[in-house]
Formats: sequence, structure tokens, C-alpha cells
Amino acid sequence: MNMLALKRVTRHFGGLAAVNEISFEAESGQVTGLIGPNGAGKTTLLNLISGLDQPTSGEIHFLSQPIHKLPPHKINQLGIARTYQNIRLFAEMTVLDNIIVGMHTQGKASLLDAALMLPGYRAEEKRLREQALQLTQRLGLEKFKDTPADALSYGDQRRVEIARALATHPKFLLLDEPAAGMNDAETARLGELILSLAKEGLTVLVIEHDMPFIAQVCDHVVALNFGEVIARGTMDEIKANPLVVAAYLGEEESANA
Ligand SMILES: Nc1ncnc2c1ncn2[C@@H]1O[C@H](COP(=O)(O)OP(=O)(O)O)[C@@H](O)[C@H]1O
Ligand SMILES: [Mg+2]
Repeated sequence: MNMLALKRVTRHFGGLAAVNEISFEAESGQVTGLIGPNGAGKTTLLNLISGLDQPTSGEIHFLSQPIHKLPPHKINQLGIARTYQNIRLFAEMTVLDNIIVGMHTQGKASLLDAALMLPGYRAEEKRLREQALQLTQRLGLEKFKDTPADALSYGDQRRVEIARALATHPKFLLLDEPAAGMNDAETARLGELILSLAKEGLTVLVIEHDMPFIAQVCDHVVALNFGEVIARGTMDEIKANPLVVAAYLGEEESANA
């Protein structure tokens, strides 16, 4: 079954088509990889799916429902959560509090309950803390739970972002370069985490430049260049695709120029 379907999605910035008539589906329970050189339109596409930005034209459907006109919090409530290429944590807040912030979009207690510190609110706070604590354990962040986020390494901060996204109990997780700033051991552990989440039924769309990582975690890969899909298939198929090879060679040449 398709969890997510993009239908001729386009996003213009002035004269630039950052995303140009992109169509593809992400299958339920699978890990889909999104690759492509810098500027290919990967982050723009994630912004469109998560509601941070709206397409100029085209449609995005999640569980058969159109979402391309919904604001980010509504999309999150439907079950889509994300992390950011440029980490967005509250720098001075502890790791645990950063995760709890992610949960409040789903909270049942009202603001009035909170203001009056009613028992319902306190019970909910306790429940959220318990859940946040479990997430720190799962992500190997327990020892940092009371540490301010900005005291952590990049790799650890990326794991806090993933914990915060998971705190909303998503069906679909979007990751924008989650391995950036991680060493090889951290990247391998991240791969194992993603595979175990997928095994539990989470559907994932992941942007990454690290090709061994993409090969490790992805069932299906979509390659972009200049805002368009240039190839899709298994990692083996993608690696052998001349358009993909040319796109990455082009990037190296412009970097060396
Ligand atoms: N808000 C914006 N305004 C203008 N141009 C943008 C904006 N966001 C992205 N772009 C441009 O769109 C293209 C795709 O960017 P992006 O989606 O960030 O690529 P990627 O994530 O694949 O590296 C780039 O040329 C970028 O400069
Ligand atoms: Mg990007």
C-alpha cells in the first residue's frame, strides 16, 4: 500500500524550479531513500511533505488524503514527523525537555488544565516524562537526559532530533541527512535503529549523502537532480544508472573547478 503519493509536485522559487513535476510513492513499512547532489531539491521536497512549504502545483497524498494545503501541525497530527538538515533544538533546554516539547502537539490536557496545574495535567506531564525517558534509552541518550542540547556533539544532537520526532508517535518519519556529523560507528548504529523502527512498522523517507548507509537501510531509492527524478529502484540499480553516475560526476567536477 502507498503511504505517501506525490503527484507532479512542483515548487518554483522565482524563476527556479527547485522541485519540478516530481511523482513517486513511498510504500507502507518500507524505507525509501532520497539521494542527489547538493541543490537537487531534496530538502525542498521534505518541506513540502511536512507542510513547512506549499507546492506551486501538484498534489501530495498521505494515506489517500490530500495534505498539500495543510499546516505543519495538522500534518504532524496525521502521523508525519521529521528532522532537519540544520538541527533545530532548543539549545539551552535539556535533552529530556527537548523531547517533551515534541510531545505537546499530541497532549490531551488543555492549556487551562496546565495553567491551573490540575491533577489531569500533572498526570499527563508524568506520563510524557516517562515516555521521553524511554526514548532517551532507546536512542542511547540516557546519560545526556539532563544535559543542555548545545553541549552535545552533532551526532548526538541528531539523535535527540530523531527522539523528538518519534515522541509524536508518527506513522511516517522524514529524516534530512541524519548521519551528517556522525562518525562511522554512530552512522552504523543509526542504520540499525532505522531498520528496527521499520521492522516495527514505521515508514521512513531518508535523505542522505552516505551511500553505504543508504544501501544498508533502504528498500527503495529515488535519485533527484535539478529538481527532477532521474532514477528509482534498488540501490544496486541506482548505482549502475548512467544518469546518477553523471549527476555525481558533474558535482565533483564543479567542486574541483
Ligand atoms: N526558500 C528558498 N528560496 C529560494 N531558493 C531556494 C529556497 N530553498 C531552496 N532554494 C533553492 O532550491 C534548490 C534546491 O535546494 P534544496 O532543496 O535545499 O536542495 P538539496 O536539499 O537537494 O541540497 C537550490 O538551488 C536552492 O538554492
Ligand atoms: Mg538539503
